[in-house]
Amino acid sequence: MRNSLEAYRKFSPQQDRGPIITIDGPAAAGKSTAARLLAQRLGYLYLDTGAMYRALTWKALRDKVDMKDKRALSQLAEETQITLSCQADGKLKVYVDGEDVTTSIRSAEVDRFVSFVSSIKEIRERMVLQQRKMGMRGKVVAEGRDMGTVVFPEAEVKIFLEASLKERARRRWEERREKGVFLEREEVETELANRDRMDSQRKISPLKKAEGAIVIDNTHLSISQTVERILQVVREKLNR
Ligand code: DC
Repeated sequence: MRNSLEAYRKFSPQQDRGPIITIDGPAAAGKSTAARLLAQRLGYLYLDTGAMYRALTWKALRDKVDMKDKRALSQLAEETQITLSCQADGKLKVYVDGEDVTTSIRSAEVDRFVSFVSSIKEIRERMVLQQRKMGMRGKVVAEGRDMGTVVFPEAEVKIFLEASLKERARRRWEERREKGVFLEREEVETELANRDRMDSQRKISPLKKAEGAIVIDNTHLSISQTVERILQVVREKLNR
């Protein structure tokens, strides 16, 4: 690991940067769509950090790396170039070493292994540095699990987005069904619950509400209502 742990821990915000908005929360709470639409509305950069962990997991599976071998996975992270590129329509394209993996990183197999891959210290250190670099100038909506707690603790606006497990499972099931993937509802619910448990119980940067974060439960909100609610918080915080 070339980057020191100290650099990983320390975030030195630029004095003249634009605002940073962080959105953290459990899997399938609608963070990605809300963050993308919000970024579009504000003309900000959209940073989907889950996509980065997914991209690395995808490559590890493709290369048949032993998914229990932390050292091999960390080594793979060192050798892998992950790029996020915002399209004109606001959607994000994800590349691994130049290859477009936008669709493949959403597979059930990646879902199954990504929590483990993202719990590895060396991998997180590397990702966090890249994420800070991307968000350095501000005017960014950063979405993930540790955006408000670790990556951008100085963010002006911190949101913790959640919804009931049942509703999140329903949304994920529906999303997959639209793509022609038919799963059992219970299977989706169990997978989400497992991932939430691993993401919130891991030692490094566990999923938790950041200090000062505003909690929005969108179990009964549509995606546009969720975005409006977040925008309301953003306006209140930034106009203060
Ligand atoms: O948001 P998502 O489902 O695409 O994220 C995939 C996984 O990546 C998730 O289970 C936990 C991990 N993750 C993380 O540990 N830290 C982040 N900032 C974002 C995602």
